[in-house]
Amino acid sequence: MSLPKAYVGLPIQEAGLELLRGKADFEVWEKEGAPPREGLLRGLKDAEGFLSGLFTRVDEELLDAAPKLKVVSNYAVGYDNIDVPAATKRGIYVTNTPDVLTPATADLAFALLLASARRVIEANAFLRSGQWKAWGPELLVGVEVSGSALGIVGFGKIGQAMARRARGFDMDVLYFSATRRPELEQSLGAKYLPLDELLKESDFVSLHCNLTEQTRNLIGEKELRMMKKTAVLINTSRGPVVDQAALYRACAERWIWGAGLDVFVQEPIPLDDPLLTLPNVTTLPHIGSASRTARDDMARKSASNLLAALRGERPHDLVNPEVLGSVGKC
Ligand code: DGY
Repeated sequence: MSLPKAYVGLPIQEAGLELLRGKADFEVWEKEGAPPREGLLRGLKDAEGFLSGLFTRVDEELLDAAPKLKVVSNYAVGYDNIDVPAATKRGIYVTNTPDVLTPATADLAFALLLASARRVIEANAFLRSGQWKAWGPELLVGVEVSGSALGIVGFGKIGQAMARRARGFDMDVLYFSATRRPELEQSLGAKYLPLDELLKESDFVSLHCNLTEQTRNLIGEKELRMMKKTAVLINTSRGPVVDQAALYRACAERWIWGAGLDVFVQEPIPLDDPLLTLPNVTTLPHIGSASRTARDDMARKSASNLLAALRGERPHDLVNPEVLGSVGKC
C-alpha cells in the first residue's frame, strides 16, 4: 500500500522524524529558514500533509497549490502564519504544539526579565571590552525584581506559568486578558486589571498573547506612555503585538526604563535597526521554546498531529475544530 505524501518544511528533530518513517512518504527541507516559495509550492503539489515552520506563510496561494492537502501541522504554538479560515474552508485541519513548550517559554521570558532588569548582557559586554576598572556604588545599577509588580498581558498557559515564576520572586502579579479568569486568581494569586491600569501599575509588563487583528500593535505610543518611567517591557509573544517604532522612541527617550525582546516585527531583525543601538534593550533571536526537551517534544507533537490527520483521525491539537463539519465535504 502506498504511503501518504507529506512535506516537512523545516529540519525538525529526529524525535519527530522517527515517528514519520514508515507512516508517510515525506521530504524534509533541511536548510536554515523557510523553503523558497516556488520550490515549496511544487513540493506540496501531491502532499496530503504539510509540517510547517512559523516562518512559512500558509495562505490561499499555498493552499491552492496543494489540492490534496488534509493537514497543516505547525511546529509552534502560535499559528498566526496560517490563514486558518482559508484552511477550514477547504476542509484542512490546522494543528499546533501547545503545552510542551510552556515551561521553556516562561523560563526564557523570566530570564529576559531578569537579564533586562539587572543589565546582565550589558554587564557581560562591559567586562569583556575591558571597561571594568573598579567596583563602584553606581556601576551597572539596575531595577529590583523581588517585590515588584509584574503585569502579564495574555493569561493563557504561558502567561500563567510566568505568574508562577513571579510568585517565587515575591512579585505582585497583575494580569489582563480578553477573558477574565476568576478561577485562577486565587490559585495563582493574580489580580485582574484592565489593560490601561495594568500598564500604569506594573514595574514589568510581559506579553503572552497570540497575534491576532485585535492584538496587532496592542502596545503603541499611548500604552508605552502610560507605563512607569522605571518599567521594563518584555515580549516573548510575537513582534507585531508591539509598535516597534514607538518602542524605540520609548526606550531611546526613556519614557520607560528598557525592554527585553525575543520577537520582532521582522525576523531576523535587520542589523541596522535602531533598536539594536540601545543599551537598555536586550534582544534574543526568537529562542523562547529552544530547550532540548521542548524542541524534541514539539517535533513529536507536530509529527503525531500530522499522522493522525493522515489516518483520518482528529488530531490532538486541532486549532480549527469547526473544520470537522466540513471535512470530506469538499
Ligand atoms: C511558538 O511556538 O509559537 C514560538 O514562537 C516558537 O516556539
